[in-house]
Amino acid sequence: MSHLVSPAGRVAGFGVTVFAEFTALAEAHGAVNLGQGFPNFAAPDFVKEAAEAAIAADHNQYTRYGGHPALVQALAAQASADLGRPVDPWTEIQVTAGATASLFAACQGLLDPGDEVILFEPFYDAYPADVIMAGGVPRYVPLYPQADGAWRYDPDELAAAFGPRTRLLFLNTPHNPTGKVFASAENAEIAGLCQAHDVVVIADEAYERMTYDGVSMVRMASLPGMWERTLSIGSAGKTFSITGWKVGWSIGPAPLVAAVRAATQWMTFSIATPFQVAVAHALEKARALGYYPDMAAMYQDKRDRLAAILAAARLSPLTPQGTYFIVADTSAYDFPSDDAFCRWLTTAIGVAAIPPGAFYSEAHRPLASHLARFCFCKTDATLTAAAERLQRLA
Ligand SMILES: Cc1ncc(COP(=O)(O)O)c(C=O)c1O
Repeated sequence: MSHLVSPAGRVAGFGVTVFAEFTALAEAHGAVNLGQGFPNFAAPDFVKEAAEAAIAADHNQYTRYGGHPALVQALAAQASADLGRPVDPWTEIQVTAGATASLFAACQGLLDPGDEVILFEPFYDAYPADVIMAGGVPRYVPLYPQADGAWRYDPDELAAAFGPRTRLLFLNTPHNPTGKVFASAENAEIAGLCQAHDVVVIADEAYERMTYDGVSMVRMASLPGMWERTLSIGSAGKTFSITGWKVGWSIGPAPLVAAVRAATQWMTFSIATPFQVAVAHALEKARALGYYPDMAAMYQDKRDRLAAILAAARLSPLTPQGTYFIVADTSAYDFPSDDAFCRWLTTAIGVAAIPPGAFYSEAHRPLASHLARFCFCKTDATLTAAAERLQRLA
């Protein structure tokens, strides 16, 4: 093939994401889209107004590439409270284009070719791509759904995944797509293994404010001996229903943040200044307004609604403790794969869900064959419309 049209080897196998594919399928068939995880309701007024004010105040030029001073200071204040230790805004925080760019930059900044990275699966689908583009090698550890609806890894499989080349472990809690919030004992076990094998944890906490039923997440960076080896990644997009702003960050000890910064300076340099100023303002206001518990209560209510809708349609929900996703067991329906079921649900029933096989390595994809992922970050009207269509299954 001509060099004009052939992609480089590192991206050749990637194809189109499952979200783009199922969003297009949903649109073509007029389906209610419970596939891709973005809110279809308005962002809070105090957040939108902050962005308008930032543009009007002419915060419109490049800013400091580590992040706008107002944002890194607001993040430092929040992280210091969350972690119970002082966090330095200038050297221990890097602002990036969403959590997505932190994940990519962390791999670029911390992996050498052949380094191994432990990924729990199902995984957020960017992880393997990030690792592979940095020349790393993913090592997969499955989470298995239990009879009580929880997801657990096999401790022996986790221990066996560590080896002399292991450099990073990705820990996503609350976890997309399962909604699992890793328990204290699991965090302690993972921390112990990472310390024993000198491994850095990439703690993806994009859903940090979305936990339910009184469950609270343990921050890996707050455990003894873990601050030094943890990069905590966050996203304003999830917390403030502004996924299109793409404001995210990495927080950790200066050497880890320096590695992310070294890659970020050549990726985007800085990111949209008015949105950084607006997120700084939103972070400062959120606590005073009681925004975080209100948002979690709203999502818990939506979770319960969607879980009941799915159960009525014989799609057994594996009830999540966090995030805005529900994985349901589709075994009541006879389909050869999760992909076949989700295509049928989208095109024949008119409700789009994501086949979770996209979040597993090739070898473990059969583990997803009777699962489907739905999201509940949607208006009540959208959930009601989905319920009406799913009634056909009842
Ligand atoms: C687990 C996880 N990490 C990271 C991201 C990306 O976040 P952002 O939109 O801030 O890039 C997502 C988005 O869906 C996610 O689910």
